[in-house]
Amino acid sequence: MTASVLDGKALSRTIREEVKQETARLQELGIQPGLAVVLVGEDPASQVYVNSKHKACLELGFYSEVHRLPNDTTQEQLLGLVDQLNQQGTIHGILVQLPLPKHIDEKAVIDAISVEKDVDGFHPISVGNMVIGDESLLPCTPAGMMEMLKRNRIPIEGKHAVVIGRSNIVGKPISLLLQRENATVTMCHSRTNNMRELTRMADILVVAIGKAHFVDRSFIKPGAVVIDVGMNRLENGKLVGDVNFDDVVEECSWITPVPGGVGPMTITMLMVNTLKAAKRVHQIQ
Ligand code: GUN
Repeated sequence: MTASVLDGKALSRTIREEVKQETARLQELGIQPGLAVVLVGEDPASQVYVNSKHKACLELGFYSEVHRLPNDTTQEQLLGLVDQLNQQGTIHGILVQLPLPKHIDEKAVIDAISVEKDVDGFHPISVGNMVIGDESLLPCTPAGMMEMLKRNRIPIEGKHAVVIGRSNIVGKPISLLLQRENATVTMCHSRTNNMRELTRMADILVVAIGKAHFVDRSFIKPGAVVIDVGMNRLENGKLVGDVNFDDVVEECSWITPVPGGVGPMTITMLMVNTLKAAKRVHQIQ
């Protein structure tokens, strides 16, 4: 068996086209979805992400504000900006790029973002609503993975999903979202004993552990769906996932490549969330 590739780039293009059309419809009603991205400091990777978010906004017809603040910005100043953006009518989504410099308490900043504008889905109220299954803006990377499964008509109900990694951004939320779609979910992490025994039972295997090529074919149940959230830079500069793609590709039924799998979906889902937030505040179906 050779797996079919879950193409995040192509799906991302399709969804962006849908968002663009919906944005044009809103504009006829005098509404333009607006996203504010806040970057503190000069982390090179964060700068690339922030620029991509700004570009995506322009491509889809959104209003975009990028606030680039110096590394020595105080927590008080940052909270002041968040408060201003919370009040600003042209802004429907606020994203403070993480990580923040060490002297700033990330939790205090996330907690300060208005829940209605929490397009990252990181606010404790957004997380709580997700846990109990109420309407909320979902964190972008897990939301992107669910979209990849659903739009490729990959069955989730009744399947055994195993998630490797328990981060707040990926492992915990994807476990909940899979369970919400009636999967039976097992969570593994760095301290799990006999991990292979568990992953070999997985119909759907999500890998978000942050270790290059951690998963090889010995982890895989034949025919499994493998979703790789890893983005690791090797010494030779090559970008690879947490899964050894070449080693497992013949064992599974579907697999996400790195790059070009989950990655492109994340910013697209941020745009989806911003559009949703704008529609909600203006009470548009
Ligand atoms: N840094 C890396 N990924 C993310 C993300 O999804 N949201 C924010 N705010 N910061 C990030």
